[in-house]
Amino acid sequence: MEASVNITNAKVWHRGEILEAGISIADDRIVEVGKDSSLPRAERELDVGGRLVFPGLIDVHCHLRDFELSYKEDFSSGTASAVAGGFTTLLDMPNTKPPTTTPESVRAKIRSMRGKLFCDVGFYATPKAPEQVGGLLDSGCMAIKIYMARSLDGETYSTEEEIYKLLRETSSQGVVLSVHAEDPKMIGMLGENLSPYLHARFHPIKAEERAIEMALSATKRAHGRLHVCHVSTLEGVSKIIRAKRDGIDVTCEATPHHAALTKDVFGRFGKMAVVEPPLRSKRHVEAVLKSISNGDVDILATDHAPHTLEEKERAYPGFPGFEIAVPVFFTLVREGLLPLDRVIDALTIRPARRFSLYNAGIIDVGRMANLTVIDLKREKRIDQNRFFSKAKYSPFNGMLVKAGVYATFVRGREVFLDGEIVSPTKLGKVIHGHIHR
Ligand code: DOR
Ligand code: ZN
Ligand code: ZN
Repeated sequence: MEASVNITNAKVWHRGEILEAGISIADDRIVEVGKDSSLPRAERELDVGGRLVFPGLIDVHCHLRDFELSYKEDFSSGTASAVAGGFTTLLDMPNTKPPTTTPESVRAKIRSMRGKLFCDVGFYATPKAPEQVGGLLDSGCMAIKIYMARSLDGETYSTEEEIYKLLRETSSQGVVLSVHAEDPKMIGMLGENLSPYLHARFHPIKAEERAIEMALSATKRAHGRLHVCHVSTLEGVSKIIRAKRDGIDVTCEATPHHAALTKDVFGRFGKMAVVEPPLRSKRHVEAVLKSISNGDVDILATDHAPHTLEEKERAYPGFPGFEIAVPVFFTLVREGLLPLDRVIDALTIRPARRFSLYNAGIIDVGRMANLTVIDLKREKRIDQNRFFSKAKYSPFNGMLVKAGVYATFVRGREVFLDGEIVSPTKLGKVIHGHIHR
């Protein structure tokens, strides 16, 4: 059989090792992984100059917005930003406008995403009440997400009892419950125009610690499956580590900002660095880093959360994350602060397993040809003006980084190459949860 493209002169991440090899792709599948000389004939060859080829990266936590929030980001600009950042599979969050809280809104999201995606996207929904979980999953969401401190559509999941009841449902349906863990009783009343320092004080360490504690206790009682979003504190991460040792089915994720930035950046970036949970002190950043290093943090996720500049002036929390994640995490690898295999696993196989993303996370013959080519030799400064996201600001702006994305393949085609989106056809598909149940 003739292949459509041969990726040659590569270092391929294959079954946990780096192979000096090439990859043959026919149509949307990988048909060979082996020495360049042993690859089948192909219509085209892409010599990647000795760069590393990884399974297409997965981000289980992003906000693509769209609908009434399209002015911040839409499915097309968001997934363009994702592929520019090396991501080929995403899970999108439900705090959209209108919110993703009903079977109708789940179906509307699927209809609306079709034809607009540069990469594959599944998404979360938030049930208005626990008994609605089944209906949401049947309509096609992949997992369930709750904000303990905030309501999207009148629902509340802020006490252990409420979370327990929801976990009974999600675990009986075989899906993961993801939580934004901040105890509403411990966070301050928010207004706009807060300074980043005040905002951080309103989101204390205790609020995360207490919320994680509640969610873990509920998970233990319900025999549930819990995923804690964006851990940011030593105390929070310690509670999760202890729970894992006790046999509780819990995973957690860390973001580039909680792994690499302390609140010292408030001085330089002001409100642009406001995020929830907030940036913390060195002690916490070191704890997050250490926990990624030893695998206690299971997954790396961006929490890509775009806003307009005008909204940032009013201290809306969040910033774009797709296009800084690889530069930041792989710079930490190059500086010896994170092991390469941990970072790769946390961006590929571990999220794939946790969220049943069967098409993603592995390079092998017969697998979908979603691939990310990373350059570990270049040095560059992060430039927010070059983001494909509509949100052109970042608390990482100007940082000198020692790694970047060279190319991204989605379903057998390169969509991003050397700084440009090179395929106008949007090959991404909506991932429907119910197929996998
Ligand atoms: O910083 C944040 N931004 N934290 C959240 O929990 C929500 C997110 C957003 O949607 O903007
Ligand atoms: Zn969150
Ligand atoms: Zn988020």
